[in-house]
Amino acid sequence: MENLNNMENVFVLNHPLIQHKISLLRDENTGTSEFRKLIEEIAMLMGYEALSDLPMEDVEVKTPIETCMTPMIAGKKLAIVPILRAGLGMVSGIQALVPTAKIGHIGLYRDPVTHEPHEYYCKLPEPIEQRTIVVVDPMLATGGSAAEAVDFIKQRGGVNIKFMCIIAAPEGVKRLREAHPDIQIYIGHLDRCLNDHAYICPGLGDAGDRIFGTK
Ligand code: PRP
Ligand code: URA
Repeated sequence: MENLNNMENVFVLNHPLIQHKISLLRDENTGTSEFRKLIEEIAMLMGYEALSDLPMEDVEVKTPIETCMTPMIAGKKLAIVPILRAGLGMVSGIQALVPTAKIGHIGLYRDPVTHEPHEYYCKLPEPIEQRTIVVVDPMLATGGSAAEAVDFIKQRGGVNIKFMCIIAAPEGVKRLREAHPDIQIYIGHLDRCLNDHAYICPGLGDAGDRIFGTK
């Protein structure tokens, strides 16, 4: 895990397994079923790294030999919050690591002309202010959707927020970081730029369509 250009709170997860799987994701010949599986696996690998700072506490456990104090994750359970639709594909990978995590949902779609996000749904697990919140979306393009999702969570009391994406454009990282400098941003791969339709280059196309087999 590497700090992006020494930017505080922005990390690129340049592990070989993550990079290899992202290359397979990009391939236009990767079909829906393999694409979905890769998104899940990458989310799990990224989650392992991004959750390495979860708070711990020592608890008493009786082994078959003796009683000891041993570390466990402290505090309220994690909240995983996918941005619909494509973020849904990342949930199961993180849930495999933390099966007791609660799941919230934020529904946003990008206007095809303005590329600005529009909200259609928001439901978060309570008490949201006491949870570590991991917002997931495979794509950080202009950053509008991610910035708005984090706005909603903060308006509802969320404080400790991480954002995890598989592919990011520099434009999106800049916008999200400027809007929310306090959150941690975890990126699988930082791509070159956006094209005229605000798609990430080289990217992987439309993540939602490739996960759900639409279009
Ligand atoms: C995609 C993607 C992000 C958003 C990124 O979703 O999953 O949510 O675009 O773009 P941005 O950074 O410019 O906001 P989309 O709006 O296409 O909806 P979908 O997941 O339902 O396909
Ligand atoms: N949303 C996607 O799914 N892909 C992009 O490249 C940009 C936004």
